[in-house]
Parts: sequence; structure tokens; C-alpha cells
Amino acid sequence: MSADKPAGKKPAKSTNPPRLASKGGAGGRPAVATGAKSKHRSNRAWIDRHVNDPYVQAAARHGYRSRAAYKLAEIDQKDRLLRPGITVVDLGAAPGSWTQVVVERLRIGAGPAGGGRPSSRVLALDILPMDPIPGVEIIQGDFREEAVAARLAAALQGAQVDLVLSDMAPNLSGIGAADAARSGHLWELALEFSLAHCKPDGALLIKVFQGSGYSQFVERLKRRFVRVAVRKPPSSRQESAETYLLAQGRKADAGN
Ligand SMILES: C[S@@+](CC[C@H](N)C(=O)[O-])C[C@H]1O[C@@H](n2cnc3c(N)ncnc32)[C@H](O)[C@@H]1O
Repeated sequence: MSADKPAGKKPAKSTNPPRLASKGGAGGRPAVATGAKSKHRSNRAWIDRHVNDPYVQAAARHGYRSRAAYKLAEIDQKDRLLRPGITVVDLGAAPGSWTQVVVERLRIGAGPAGGGRPSSRVLALDILPMDPIPGVEIIQGDFREEAVAARLAAALQGAQVDLVLSDMAPNLSGIGAADAARSGHLWELALEFSLAHCKPDGALLIKVFQGSGYSQFVERLKRRFVRVAVRKPPSSRQESAETYLLAQGRKADAGN
């Protein structure tokens, strides 16, 4: 864990939650806030929570590109996934805070390779552009496109992967069924990639959302991997449906 991680501190609870529009208004005015007003309040609450969040503050001090860095750092603190010499593929990597944690823990750039120090590799992919990180091969493209997945596979040059990270999340439309389908598609693609490219004792750490399709995906992972664990690091907000699944050790010929 980074020295900048807030020691033993819990992230701030949501400050000033948006007020319920159903409370009676004064002076006989309509009780329901206008859409614009309630949107303004919830934006304000989000900004308050963001600036007061100890993980946001720690990320800024440490130079991490986002607070998400601590989610991976906390999971790694428990599961010890990141060690020098391994090959990591980071899917949905932008803006790059997970990649920064990976680079630190693989000790990339910590001195000349060789001399007993194993060589590590990190490939980061996102549909969005991402600022360079020394020692990281960045691929920009939509992972749903076969040609993009093929570019990533080609970049591996036949090497097998120790760890696939997927923090991919689609842009949400607000339409539950459509969002669940989009997320589920990305989970499947990350799983498919892991099965094709991971070492037999390799691992997939993937962000998923509890809700539609979640338990079926957990079952799919259990059929394909020896160990599957659920992780909800302290820096992942309790009210968020996001959770992380850690699947380790491919099962041979497990079918679908
Ligand atoms: C929560 S962010 C990842 C944050 C990142 N782990 C970090 O620590 O900086 C999710 C990312 O998934 C990416 N993403 C969503 N759909 C994608 C797709 N089809 N192909 C590649 N990346 C995708 C988004 O562009 C976004 O950058």
C-alpha cells in the first residue's frame, strides 16, 4: 500500500445528500423541486463528497491519476497479485491509475533489467487516449472490436499473461437492461481474453456490478477457474454496486 494511503481512515461518508423533492415546500409552493434544481443539488453533493474524500486527496498527493488506484492497491495488499517479473494486461486502463500502481509494484523503471531482476511487462488498453507511462505499452481502441483484441494479442508476441485486470465500464445510459447488457458483454470479452492468453496459474481481476447477470457471471468464472473470490476494497464506495471478482488458476478443458 502506498505510504500516502489514508492510514486506517475510512473514506468520508456522502456529505449533504441530495434533499428529497417530496418534502413539503414553504408557503404552499409546490413540494417537488425542479429537475434543474435537484440536478444542481446532486452535482453539488457529488463535488462536496469528491473534494472531502481522503482517497481523492491521497491520490492527488501521490500523483495518481485517480482515486481508483487505491482499489487495486488494497486488493493487492490482500492478494499479492503484483510482483516483479510478471506480465500484466490492464483493460479499461485510462486515465491510468491502476497502471501506475502496477508499474510501481512491478518495479518497472527501478533500474536496469537483468542482474537478477526479472523483466516485467505491462500492456494497457482503453477506448480513450491515455497519457504515456514509462515502461507501459499503450493500445488505444475499443475492446469490443475483434481487430483491437487482435492488436493486443499481437503485442504479446506469443507471451502468456500472468494477470489480466479489467476495470472496464461502459458509459451508462440509465436504461437498466441496456447498461447490464453492455457491462456483461465487456465481462465476457475480458474472460474470453483471459482464457486465451493467461498462463495456467494466471489470474483475472475484473470489475463487475451486482445486479442483472452478476450471479451467472460468477458461476461462469467458477466453471473456468479453480478459485473465485469476491473483493470489495474499502476505497470502493459502499453505496456503489461495483465489486471485483478475482479468478485464479484456469481449469483445463472446463467447457463453457
Ligand atoms: C473506471 S474507468 C478505469 C479506470 C482505470 N482503472 C484507472 O485506474 O485509471 C473505466 C474505463 O473503461 C474504458 N472502457 C469502457 N468501454 C471500453 C471498451 N469497449 N474498450 C476499451 N475500454 C473501455 C473507459 O474508457 C474507461 O476509461
